Amino acid sequence: MRWTERQRALLEAMGLRLWVPAGVAQPEPLPELALESTTADTAADAPSPVTAPEPTPPPSAPAAARRPAGVATMGWAALREAVAGCTACKLCQGRRQTVFGVGNEQAQWMIVGEAPGEQEDRQGEPFVGKSGQLLDNMLRSIGLTRSPGEPSRQVYIANTLKCRPPGNRNPEPEELAQCEPFLIRQIELIRPRIILAMGRFAVQSLLRSHEPIGRLRGRVHRYQGVPLIVTYHPAYLLRNLEDKARAWDDLCLARETFAALPAEASA
Ligand code: URA
Repeated sequence: MRWTERQRALLEAMGLRLWVPAGVAQPEPLPELALESTTADTAADAPSPVTAPEPTPPPSAPAAARRPAGVATMGWAALREAVAGCTACKLCQGRRQTVFGVGNEQAQWMIVGEAPGEQEDRQGEPFVGKSGQLLDNMLRSIGLTRSPGEPSRQVYIANTLKCRPPGNRNPEPEELAQCEPFLIRQIELIRPRIILAMGRFAVQSLLRSHEPIGRLRGRVHRYQGVPLIVTYHPAYLLRNLEDKARAWDDLCLARETFAALPAEASA
């Protein structure tokens, strides 16, 4: 995405602030992924518009190959390996490495973001750039951490895409579709008690809704029966400070929702 498009997208994103009260109909189940460009909410981690653009694969680069079969039944080790070797879309051609996820595999909270940015592509861990710092602060504010500790306070963080889109452009529908089985399997393996979906790509993937974040936030959704809270992407918040208060409300809703869950049956 070119910078002028990012600017346009950010303006559109600011229009997401409409508040729709609780009780709005649940999202339509599962239309095809078809994503319109609106928020560019990884823009905060994107290179400055005056810096040289990221190298993109030459048009003559070999066509995308494939994702290993059997993702839906893989355990952690096989899944990691499958992600690391995935060539199912063209993003594999420009990545330094894949970014699988971080956190305790027994975590009770799952955070789903969008895609690796430059720092994540370098370090192999989600949310380590500026938006990651904000995410860590947001999590800390409600007593959560990606570091080792008590599972009810721990998060597992994963993205809808495991490879960095060149220049931090928005994920494309084909890329999201190819990568989605990995995220689905991660969620199945973690079995989180609550999911926080950050930004429109996470929301579109998990809820199959094209409603703006501003219309989906503020109430509890479900992903495969698991309560799911929608909120703004940290990168979007870095550029739209006026929405931080809403994000705080979302975190509080998530914390209250988690606190109200029935106690887990002991093993
Ligand atoms: N933005 C995301 O959505 N994920 C990351 O890992 C980094 C930035």
